[in-house]
Amino acid sequence: MKEKMIIDRKHAIVLMRIFKLPFSVKYHSHAVAKIALSIASKIKETELDLNLIEVGALLHDIGRSQTHGFNHGIEGGKILKKYGYPNELVRICETHILGGLDKVDAKKVGLPEKDYLPLTLEEKIVCLADKYMKGTKEVTIEERFRTWFLKYGRTELLLKSRRRIKKIKEEIEMLY
Ligand SMILES: [Fe+2]
Repeated sequence: MKEKMIIDRKHAIVLMRIFKLPFSVKYHSHAVAKIALSIASKIKETELDLNLIEVGALLHDIGRSQTHGFNHGIEGGKILKKYGYPNELVRICETHILGGLDKVDAKKVGLPEKDYLPLTLEEKIVCLADKYMKGTKEVTIEERFRTWFLKYGRTELLLKSRRRIKKIKEEIEMLY
């Protein structure tokens, strides 16, 4: 059996450099990692993969080295897949957009018709932590979505996504 590739934060930081992530995205990713670990530290009852959460948060936007569109999640996943990184990391990239995208949403934004929903706690924590950061500024979910509403309008897709991320937040906070 192929051994699972374990990567640590140093490795993730090197990858961010190799893929020439813009400074603002790197800074954002470090901030998301900090929040994600802080959320994880409050969860007492369940075993979590803290390394996966940290490395996943650091690399969740690696696809922004290629594009800033809705497809940056998938593009990030492709990069990691191409270089043989574990599927858990690929999934974190693919599922962090908004509150995750179901296949209807995916089609609407021009992605392959497939669910990109955070399912594991690690995926949900990174997705949620990302919603608490607007660039490098810590915000509430309401504030985060307000910016998107201003940019794209109060679309069904955004409203659905906000409901989904709020549900994820509740689910995670139940574990505190
Ligand atoms: Fe992102």
